[in-house]
Amino acid sequence: MADQHDDPVRRQYEQFPYPHRDPGDEATRLVTGSPSHLAEIRHYLYAGRLDVRQGFKALVAGGGTGDAAIMLAQQLAEAGGGEVVYLDMSTAAREIAEARAAARGLTNVAFVTGSLLALDDLGLGGFDYIDCCGVLHHLEDPPAGARALARALRPDVATVGGGLGVMVYAPYGRTGVYPMQQMLAQLAGDRPLAEQVAVARRLWDRLPGSNWLRRNPFVGDHKRSDAELVDLLLHARDRSYTVPEFARLLPAGDLRPAAFLEPARYDPASYLNDPKLLRPLAEAGPIERAAFAERLTGTMKKHIAYAVPAGAGDPVARPNDAAVPVMPGSDPAALADRLAGASPTLTVTLDGEKRSFPLPRLTAPFLRRVDGTRTIGEIVQALCAQDAGLDPDAARRQFDQLYAVLNGLNLMLLARRPGTLAQS
Ligand SMILES: C[S@@+](CC[C@H](N)C(=O)[O-])C[C@H]1O[C@@H](n2cnc3c(N)ncnc32)[C@H](O)[C@@H]1O
Repeated sequence: MADQHDDPVRRQYEQFPYPHRDPGDEATRLVTGSPSHLAEIRHYLYAGRLDVRQGFKALVAGGGTGDAAIMLAQQLAEAGGGEVVYLDMSTAAREIAEARAAARGLTNVAFVTGSLLALDDLGLGGFDYIDCCGVLHHLEDPPAGARALARALRPDVATVGGGLGVMVYAPYGRTGVYPMQQMLAQLAGDRPLAEQVAVARRLWDRLPGSNWLRRNPFVGDHKRSDAELVDLLLHARDRSYTVPEFARLLPAGDLRPAAFLEPARYDPASYLNDPKLLRPLAEAGPIERAAFAERLTGTMKKHIAYAVPAGAGDPVARPNDAAVPVMPGSDPAALADRLAGASPTLTVTLDGEKRSFPLPRLTAPFLRRVDGTRTIGEIVQALCAQDAGLDPDAARRQFDQLYAVLNGLNLMLLARRPGTLAQS
């Protein structure tokens, strides 16, 4: 790799820290998202069994202006334990992230300037969890990045839980981005970045109607701010990964994907309602199915995966009587009102197109009882107590159907009650 201080990527993020954030906004909202929402980490990497009061140390590698570090630190503070280490090469990005933490009064984040490739030498200790969102695809040697991150995990992660949350760009949804980058390099690649921004805006306004970027309705980041425009169109170094390429990158660090988010986006059946066409995929493995879904929809701009050491068991929570369904960021009661009726259907926009998911009859009564503390077993029991004609096994099957749809859309996750964490 180029010397860290000569790295054009570092220079870019010194001048245009990403994403554009105003620390003053912390007073009114918390930016949340994937990966690294605490409820997702618990669900996808700890089978629902994570009590951060027992200790939890997270690294946000390439933390930028702080979205993941601030979200996770805030959630950990509210959950009563754990700490975050933020690491980035850009001091300008770090200043904004630090100001955001200060605005929230967070004291559980440590800020470090440096390269994730130098983690071995930074002496930060082993981590239970590492966020690396939108960073690996900017490295000269992404497999070296995957290896460095994997080495920074605690050695017992494969057995006790934990792992990584990773986001990389995906090519099909970014159709038109790379030719635009190449044109801008031809026109103004040797000029200062601020001038390149002006050229990019000028060219954008004059793109012919046939241009694929102009025709791509899924790319709009450049309209938000100069930082977003630079990140999208004037990047010093970026590449994107198809599902199979991403799945080949992780083993460089002896890692494997445990789940892609949102799961429904990676299921061909979410897009193709034709059993005859889907039949050959029934026997395919999860990567092949996900690759098919990516080719089919054609709109994926990024891939988010939770990853674990290759030798780890299945870390993903599964629905059973002891699991507590949680719906972070949603209002289950309001959703229940929307989905009342004998044949409820949930319609959502998935990768740019409206999709409808049929739901079981008991959807609304289930959702009215999802409060983040009741288990699936208790919810089923409560419904059966009200309706003597309801068979508990049939009710459980209906809950499983509801869970499959809502989890697929990342609307429902599972947790275990603290104190019952060791039980199955
Ligand atoms: C696209 S931004 C993503 C920021 C943040 N993770 C997010 O998703 O909002 C990429 C960030 O990675 C940082 N970065 C790039 N290469 C790095 C490296 N080798 N070590 C540490 N940080 C790096 C950049 O400085 C930049 O802040």
